[in-house]
Amino acid sequence: MKAIVIEQPGDESVMQLGEAPEPTLGAGDLRIQVAAAAVNRADLLQRQGLYPPPPGASPILGLECAGEVVEVGADVSGWAVGDRAMALLAGGGYAEQVVVDAGSALQVPDALAIEDAAALPEVFLTVFLNVFQLGAFPEGGAALVHGGGSGIGTAAIQLVRAAGGRIVVTAGSDEKCQRCLDLGADVAVNYREGDFVAASAGASC
Ligand SMILES: NC(=O)c1ccc[n+]([C@@H]2O[C@H](COP(=O)([O-])OP(=O)(O)OC[C@H]3O[C@@H](n4cnc5c(N)ncnc54)[C@H](OP(=O)(O)O)[C@@H]3O)[C@@H](O)[C@H]2O)c1
Repeated sequence: MKAIVIEQPGDESVMQLGEAPEPTLGAGDLRIQVAAAAVNRADLLQRQGLYPPPPGASPILGLECAGEVVEVGADVSGWAVGDRAMALLAGGGYAEQVVVDAGSALQVPDALAIEDAAALPEVFLTVFLNVFQLGAFPEGGAALVHGGGSGIGTAAIQLVRAAGGRIVVTAGSDEKCQRCLDLGADVAVNYREGDFVAASAGASC
């Protein structure tokens, strides 16, 4: 299959379109024909040789993707060839095909573009796990998110808003602050220009 391959770590020029072996399907796995894969900060670090993949994971970049299911493992139920899937990956998303445990995949709702679905699992599940499952975010609560303009921060803004919460963010530029406000943040503070504690103290949060 075709994949983005890296001979030596480095800047973005080290990423080349090349060939890689197709991954092997296990009984509990889905094979997905990748339509889109997202970019996360971890990919940038891995590309530079600063974030090695976990043992046994694909050396190919890509921690999330979406596409069409083309093969279903013998022990998998609830999935069929042709389904649209988005998946959280240990690696391998920058390739034509991925194989993933069916438990790490979600159906893509009809209303969601496949390219948008590819950018959901990693950041949105990270935020959901930390803010709602581990953090037990209370109904009507408020959250402070540093790095509001990051992938994680923009997901946090949207999920906290969807849960009816209020949200204060910090970010490193006025442009990022505006983007956070556009996404639904109640207060956005450029931490390079002011003290976020003072700035948020008078806010209705
Ligand atoms: N992406 C994921 O799914 C995921 C999953 C698990 C954990 N994490 C962790 O969550 C954190 C954010 O990840 P992300 O993927 O959301 O990152 P990202 O989109 O690349 O954003 C990182 C943010 O960090 C700030 N920053 C401060 N110093 C920086 C520097 N020297 N270089 C680059 N950015 C700098 C920047 O915001 P300002 O300009 O506002 O300072 C930037 O918006 C990381 O610690 C990551 O390991 C991410």
